[in-house]
Amino acid sequence: MKKLFVKTFGCQMNVYDSARMADLLAAIGYEPDDRPENADLVILNTCHIREKAAEKMYSELGRLKKLKDSRAKGGGSMLIAVAGCVAQAEGEEIIARQKAVDMVVGPQSYHRLPEMIARISRGAGHVLETEFPAQEKFDSLPDERSDCGPSAFLTVQEGCDKFCTFCVVPYTRGAEFSRPPERIVEEACRLAANGVKEITLLGQNVNAYRGIAADGEAWSLARLIGSLDAIKGLERLRYTTSHPRDMSGDLIAAHREIPKLMPYLHLPVQSGSDRVLAAMNRQHTGDRYREIVARVRAARFDIALSSDFIVGFPGETDADFEATLQLVRDVRYAQAFSFKYSPRPGTPAAALPKQIPEDVKSARLAQLQALLDKQQAEFNQLCAGRTVPVLFERAGTKPGQAIGRSPWLQPVHVDNARNLIGHIRDVRIAQVLSNSLKGELVVQNANAMAGSC
Ligand code: 5AD
Ligand code: SF4
Repeated sequence: MKKLFVKTFGCQMNVYDSARMADLLAAIGYEPDDRPENADLVILNTCHIREKAAEKMYSELGRLKKLKDSRAKGGGSMLIAVAGCVAQAEGEEIIARQKAVDMVVGPQSYHRLPEMIARISRGAGHVLETEFPAQEKFDSLPDERSDCGPSAFLTVQEGCDKFCTFCVVPYTRGAEFSRPPERIVEEACRLAANGVKEITLLGQNVNAYRGIAADGEAWSLARLIGSLDAIKGLERLRYTTSHPRDMSGDLIAAHREIPKLMPYLHLPVQSGSDRVLAAMNRQHTGDRYREIVARVRAARFDIALSSDFIVGFPGETDADFEATLQLVRDVRYAQAFSFKYSPRPGTPAAALPKQIPEDVKSARLAQLQALLDKQQAEFNQLCAGRTVPVLFERAGTKPGQAIGRSPWLQPVHVDNARNLIGHIRDVRIAQVLSNSLKGELVVQNANAMAGSC
């Protein structure tokens, strides 16, 4: 077997794509290895969403070039591929700047990797593939998945037509595309048959999912979730990332009606100021977002809400930033991600006047994160002393310890539970730490209050 080293940057979709690349390459004799110096093929699966992505990639490539040169001196060889959104955005430029790169492959073309490797072995020199044939990609991926623990990602939708003015995704991942529902159900059934207990449905705009079935009918995400609910052995369903505009009534109702759908919703708002939201082209207001949150909470009172925020968008005033803080106070998040605005070349916001100075961005970010951290601690504190069902996913650092997730996605550490990896068990939460919980196994049927946190 040849050795494959994949380094993944960015979002869960890249994690899914890296795993699928490994599956694809297993068929032509590559096995994963965690040391790049051993690798016959190195893939950097890159992310372009925030600052310095390209610079980070070029310095990583500089280090890989040295490994490639030393392997060549020892009579060996190493292929280097750049995949993901930086590959899509930079294209030829990557090969021009770093000659050690053999292949550049965009996120919709990585199914062509085996053919690209074959072309290189026939002496084709550098190879570039950055087209957008999303359906062809999914049809070409192998059925078998080797990456799966008890919890797996499953991409159902890719791309974005929303064109938020700060974001590169519509340019790097292309237009919205939904996989046919039958293919997704088949993939989910195979995962469940292999012992997967939880599936997270992935999409840049997952709640814009509109898969066309063989009979021509369009399925919503709620309908897809309803169908996955019937799969035996599958215990938990999640989906991410959602846009407020696509938070439809049937999806909200699914949180009330489908117990397997976990009480967690990542619903990025970005800002609480209507002026900034309009300049971002988000197509919703702060109050519209509050209204959606109220409807979701009415469907599932204990839902954990998560969000993304950008501070320091061009033109953001102190009053705009205060509106963001007020929205956070009103919504009360279980956890969230927050970023300083970074101008992405080619996006409309990068050309706007009134870019915000770095020190103002940093001060606003610190203030927002302090509030979000406080809310996260308050949310976690609600679990203290309660009994919650935990899906054990992996070994912890201490002997015998296992780490799982609560329904609200909190990591839960439990001693003497390693034999329970892949199972769901009731755990009494004994200690609340800043980003995780610690608990003890509850003897089954011992008056547990499962799911009552
Ligand atoms: N600057 C800062 N944050 C950004 N994000 C997307 N583009 C930018 C940018 N130019 C953030 C958004 C998005 C998350 C995935 O990354 O908050 O929801
Ligand atoms: Fe980017 Fe906006 Fe699309 Fe999200 S909805 S991927 S932030 S353009």
